[in-house]
Amino acid sequence: MALLCLKGMSKKTFRSILIFLFLHAVLSTPPEDPIKCSSKNTSCTITNSYGVFPDRSTCHAAQALYPTTEEELVSMVASAARNSRKIKVATRFSHSIPKLVCPDGQNGLLISTKYLNRVLKIDAEARTITVESGVTLKQLINEAAKAGLALPYAPYWWGLTIGGLMGTGAHGSTLLGKGSAVHDYVAELRIVTAAGPEDGYAKVQILNEAHEDLNAVKVSLGVLGVISQITLKLEPLFKRSITYVTKNDSDLGDEVASFGRKHEFADITWYPSQRKAVYRNDDRVPISTPGNGLYDFIPFRPTPSLALALIRSTEDIQESTNDANGKCLTARSTTNTLLTSAYGLTNNGIIFTGYPVISFQNRVQASGTCLDSLKDAEITACPWDSRVKGEFFHQTTFSIGLSVAKNFIQDVQQLVELEPKAFCGIEQYNGILMRYVKASSAYLGNEEDAIDFDITFYRSKDPMTPRLYEDILEEIEQTGIFKYGGLPHWGKNRNLAFDGAINKYKNAGKFLKVKQVYDPQRLFSSEWTDQILGLKEGVTIVKDGCALEGLCICSEDRHCAPNKGYFCRPGRVYKEARVCSRLRS
Ligand SMILES: Cc1cc2nc3c(=O)[nH]c(=O)nc-3n(C[C@H](O)[C@H](O)[C@H](O)COP(=O)(O)OP(=O)(O)OC[C@H]3O[C@@H](n4cnc5c(N)ncnc54)[C@H](O)[C@@H]3O)c2cc1C
Ligand SMILES: *[C@@H]1O[C@H](CO)[C@@H](O)[C@H](O)[C@H]1NC(C)=O
Ligand SMILES: *[C@@H]1O[C@H](CO)[C@@H](O)[C@H](O)[C@H]1NC(C)=O
Repeated sequence: MALLCLKGMSKKTFRSILIFLFLHAVLSTPPEDPIKCSSKNTSCTITNSYGVFPDRSTCHAAQALYPTTEEELVSMVASAARNSRKIKVATRFSHSIPKLVCPDGQNGLLISTKYLNRVLKIDAEARTITVESGVTLKQLINEAAKAGLALPYAPYWWGLTIGGLMGTGAHGSTLLGKGSAVHDYVAELRIVTAAGPEDGYAKVQILNEAHEDLNAVKVSLGVLGVISQITLKLEPLFKRSITYVTKNDSDLGDEVASFGRKHEFADITWYPSQRKAVYRNDDRVPISTPGNGLYDFIPFRPTPSLALALIRSTEDIQESTNDANGKCLTARSTTNTLLTSAYGLTNNGIIFTGYPVISFQNRVQASGTCLDSLKDAEITACPWDSRVKGEFFHQTTFSIGLSVAKNFIQDVQQLVELEPKAFCGIEQYNGILMRYVKASSAYLGNEEDAIDFDITFYRSKDPMTPRLYEDILEEIEQTGIFKYGGLPHWGKNRNLAFDGAINKYKNAGKFLKVKQVYDPQRLFSSEWTDQILGLKEGVTIVKDGCALEGLCICSEDRHCAPNKGYFCRPGRVYKEARVCSRLRS
């Protein structure tokens, strides 16, 4: 996502940025706490790691509590239940984009898992790890590796907590085993739920694979209670061999389903305007294979604030001057830089000398060095850190059944034929990441073997400002989600993606039944979770300019930006789509 090199920037400027980067890459500011309160941890606001929700509203809570043990957690939930207070579970970084963490009303309570962050037990023989729910993926990977164990599949960003990533069904990429979603490797968990007076207002439920309810709790959107501990099944630590292969994308539609079965950790990064697809040939190799590579994904590294500001300013100017050519130049140089630097893979932890890169699972499965950093040195940051002028984007992420993925890709390719430059904007954010996911037993998990498309694109600081090729991006979003029935990632996306989404889950009814039993007072419910669970209207917000922010699908011109030349029109390939098109007179 972070861009490395800018066309149009003088060589000298670029060199000084490089020197700056070299000198300061180790000094970085850790992300801000998403919860901010007055002195006594009361009168709080909460946001996400990007500092803004899809509808740009601010969320309030009366109080934030920080349990350090399950016992404390139980008494906090009990006290809240006794007083019928609304509760939301929050995490150290709050990486989800939608408003999952907002409690309703004036008296809402946030329970943070920030200090529920211990690894409790590693059983090398049973190959399991038991952690508190606020443990990060990074901690889990490191601790497991020390015991010679590994989580086989995981998200690529290690800043997520185990409780949080399960909450939204987060995943990596594979079609093997139980698939790429972490929640499908849960052997047991402990959840603290609100209860009636007969149970002292809170109770701990222990669920293992034999319990049907685990299928609800393992992807819960945080609406069932607070998960306190999780036991995951691991495998003996193994090695992988990774090679990125760049091809033209003319046969991508034909390749997409079979490629996922050819390599255990396959994924594809697609650059549609460049007609290029980068295939990740990534498989297990014998542990004796030499190699001690490292994956330190460049867009997740600490990035100098100065470079971030320059990149953002350039992007703002390209947008405001409709400079599609400029965007395409930037996109190509960004892609080339990432490709020649192997996206941040090195053969030995220091330099990249060529493929394959071979290493232990724990060294290549995820990364996120922009999180580890010195305090109060505002020199580098994660590229999306809202305290510095940097990346500001929308993310559209949905998974489409493998059987129709080819059709979706071909629809996108038709749009590329019509508007060859329309995709340069997303290529500035490293294109479309395509990852494999398997059908899950989780009621709110994947319904079928599918491929997840992850698309990041420019968002203006001004909600009323349209983006370049607004219409094409909206058409892709609606094509994936409505024409091909894509399931939106619960932790990403703009409001419109969730419209009717719950009806795509055959077990949604079972989930709601468990919800009734686990949280009869509906303390863990909020307006947003009621809306996405189909219990309340209003997932989309209709107002002037709403389609620009993905709060609605336009049905009238005023939902776009008619004064700036953007009107509500049908899609070009998917005629049922309604998108904001720039009409040139
Ligand atoms: C840079 C970046 C990279 C990402 N990469 C990936 C990726 O590779 N794959 C992927 O699938 N996703 C990815 N995501 C999305 C991410 O996985 C989800 O948004 C995830 O849910 C965030 O986890 P979190 O710990 O920040 O939890 P939060 O966003 O704080 O919480 C998520 C939900 O879980 C609930 N919750 C949290 N803890 C508990 C608990 N202990 N008990 C009950 N409920 C709880 C919360 O209430 C909330 O509803 C990425 C996000 C970012 C910012
Ligand atoms: C108040 O919040 C801070 C985090 O901002 C936390 O470290 C501290 O433990 C909290 N105090 C109480 C009493 O919960
Ligand atoms: C793409 O590559 C294939 C071979 O993999 C080749 O047959 C085809 O001509 C190429 N298409 C373009 C447009 O270069």
